[in-house]
Amino acid sequence: MKKQQDASDPKNGTEERFSKTGFILAAIGSSVGLGNMWKFPYITGKHGGAAFFLLFIVCLIIVGLPVLLAEMVIGRGGRGNASTSFYNLTGKKVWAAFGLFAVLTAFMIMSYYAVVAGWTLHYTVQSLTGLLFEPGADYKSKFLDFAGSYTPLFWQAVVTVVCGSVLAKGVSGGIEKFNKILIPGFLIILIVLMFRALTLPGASEGVAFFLKPDFSKLDAESALIALGHAFFSLSLGMGCMLTYGSYVDKRQSLGSATLAIGFGDLVYALIAGLVIFPTVFSFGLEPGEGVGLAFMALPAAFSKMYLGSVFGGLFFALLAIAALTSAVSILEVPVAFAMERWGWSRSKSSVYVSAVCFLVGIPSALSVGGVLGGFTPGGKSIFDWVDFVTAYIAMPFGGLVVTLFTGYAWKKAGEEAGLSGFWYKAWMIALRFVAPVLILLIFLYSVGLLKV
Ligand code: TRP
Repeated sequence: MKKQQDASDPKNGTEERFSKTGFILAAIGSSVGLGNMWKFPYITGKHGGAAFFLLFIVCLIIVGLPVLLAEMVIGRGGRGNASTSFYNLTGKKVWAAFGLFAVLTAFMIMSYYAVVAGWTLHYTVQSLTGLLFEPGADYKSKFLDFAGSYTPLFWQAVVTVVCGSVLAKGVSGGIEKFNKILIPGFLIILIVLMFRALTLPGASEGVAFFLKPDFSKLDAESALIALGHAFFSLSLGMGCMLTYGSYVDKRQSLGSATLAIGFGDLVYALIAGLVIFPTVFSFGLEPGEGVGLAFMALPAAFSKMYLGSVFGGLFFALLAIAALTSAVSILEVPVAFAMERWGWSRSKSSVYVSAVCFLVGIPSALSVGGVLGGFTPGGKSIFDWVDFVTAYIAMPFGGLVVTLFTGYAWKKAGEEAGLSGFWYKAWMIALRFVAPVLILLIFLYSVGLLKV
């Protein structure tokens, strides 16, 4: 039976494939990114600690995991890129057009994600060489001076070259190897930093901020934030998991892969919170999220810590790894597309797509206080616009396409997923009704049309 299934796989044996664990590691590498490190801990602390954490788990289960499975199943069933997979499964051009939209979204996300990944590399080097820390320095203006200079372009280029070279080496020799080395390293650094953070004086205050359950803080807004984050954190809505799924062997269970990826994402987010808050609170600093937390508050904390440049260096290396393993997965979406669309070799596609993506990202890099910093049409810099349009408009749209396609248009999804009976029904209910409605709500909320 199994053999027959393999023989019916049109590209079996001739195409690139992940190994079983390689695929899980690569997918965890994609999902564990800056979202886990600088966003999740803060929104958890702000919205009721452990109470929010439980809510987040519910959102992962009812929306995140079903859509994750759907994306992977479309990729493996369609055996194409984020656009052609839809077409291969139904023969309808309109779905390929929707998929093409996801490819463009990925390309745009990569253009500015490479900028941020570049900042983390710069900060890693600055920490380890001790240049970052000076007594009494103002880390906010330090960051703004750096982001406003031309130095970020150099680091953006480094990120582009790293990601492009990994992708040029292929699926098992590039993406898989890269993640196999970096993900275990990531876990080790995370655990070292967790011990350091939890043994700092006053660490328990940070742990309390992060996890003390406060159900009174849960409201409709927290639910929408939890949902949106479940989506972003699992790298859904722009063909990432779909493209990775297209390299999965037919014999691998995608159901168990879904659970492993969801669990991995959750554990990394949890430990990240146990690093960040004890560190920030122990030095009496204000927690925040995003750029302010990672590049302003935490350097101030490390500057006061014994061996701070080592711990700071490890922390930024952690951010850099999280960002790079995600960036590789994002860039693979347009690279895979270009290979198939124009018949390019993998190396040619990696070089061309990376180079164009670098050029497209330059305005974003220069708009965070740089020469283009003053150009803020509609109150947002170019960087903020690209972030807003991709994360809040294009990604929910991509997610909707995936749920509707799997729930309504493609009739054989259950077979490809290996689901039947109860689990198939539950998955279909999630894809047909629960996920589309909730995705629509997140979308309306993020663009300001829904007030809660
Ligand atoms: N999931 C990553 C994070 O938590 C970011 C990411 C990588 C992503 N690939 C994606 C988000 C695709 C959305 C879609 O930071």
